[in-house]
Amino acid sequence: MLDVGNVTKLIGGMTILSDVSLSVGKNEIVGVVGPNGAGKTTLFNIITGISRPTRGAVSFDGEDITGLPPERICRKGIAKTFQIAHSFPGLTARDSVMVGAIFGSDEPMTIRDAKELSAETLGFVGFPGEKMDTLVRNLNVVELKRVQLARALASKPRLLLFDELMTGLTPAESNDSVELVKKIRAQGISILMIEHVMSVIMGVSDRVIVLDHGEKIADGHPYEVINDQRVIDTYLGDVGVF
Ligand SMILES: Nc1ncnc2c1ncn2[C@@H]1O[C@H](COP(=O)(O)OP(=O)(O)OP(=O)(O)O)[C@@H](O)[C@H]1O
Ligand SMILES: [Mg+2]
Repeated sequence: MLDVGNVTKLIGGMTILSDVSLSVGKNEIVGVVGPNGAGKTTLFNIITGISRPTRGAVSFDGEDITGLPPERICRKGIAKTFQIAHSFPGLTARDSVMVGAIFGSDEPMTIRDAKELSAETLGFVGFPGEKMDTLVRNLNVVELKRVQLARALASKPRLLLFDELMTGLTPAESNDSVELVKKIRAQGISILMIEHVMSVIMGVSDRVIVLDHGEKIADGHPYEVINDQRVIDTYLGDVGVF
């Protein structure tokens, strides 16, 4: 479904990504891990058109989407949430999700349908019903993450990219989010997710990719990857999880 081919990104003479290739298949959940500064967010920005690769290509369903603007890529069916949850502070939660429903999808939609879809999607992600009309600036971080997720879902993506969906959540909240990720996949949506919490990655991913200093150093079944000596040396030893 998604193919990233030999992507290199140079910024100011520094190599941020070096010849990274990866793929995501239909209905797959692929985890992306790696130390801080490894290039994970940069990779997501390239896939979603926020940034252009210096070399290499991105294709989606066999179509070259390299360098297309983010709104076109979103309408083709790739949505993302951001590492630092932000939204439209002056809009209500529901209106913020409507932006995704109306502008993120190729399907034309009436305001009424978008309103309905937004409420339904906020419910699906576990956003508190009584806060639908609360301004985004008054939401807490967990609620804000839910709004972001609902907005991405409302654009009816076929591939969803999560950049640290669980960071800042309590273990109980993370568990809820893991269930939610599984529920989203059950709807036929493929997922590529950056996550630092290894137990989450291990519990939910079909495949795990490890980035280090802009290079892909592993790509395989979660248990293969955590037993890979290079991964242990460069990353797992570092976070001290295993
Ligand atoms: N626009 C930019 N200008 C200069 N350097 C940048 C830019 N964007 C990213 N970098 C650098 O590229 C490297 C990779 O950054 P990136 O944000 O992709 O890492 P990451 O793997 O997402 O890290 P984290 O786990 O901390 O989120 C870092 O060293 C970062 O400082
Ligand atoms: Mg990042």
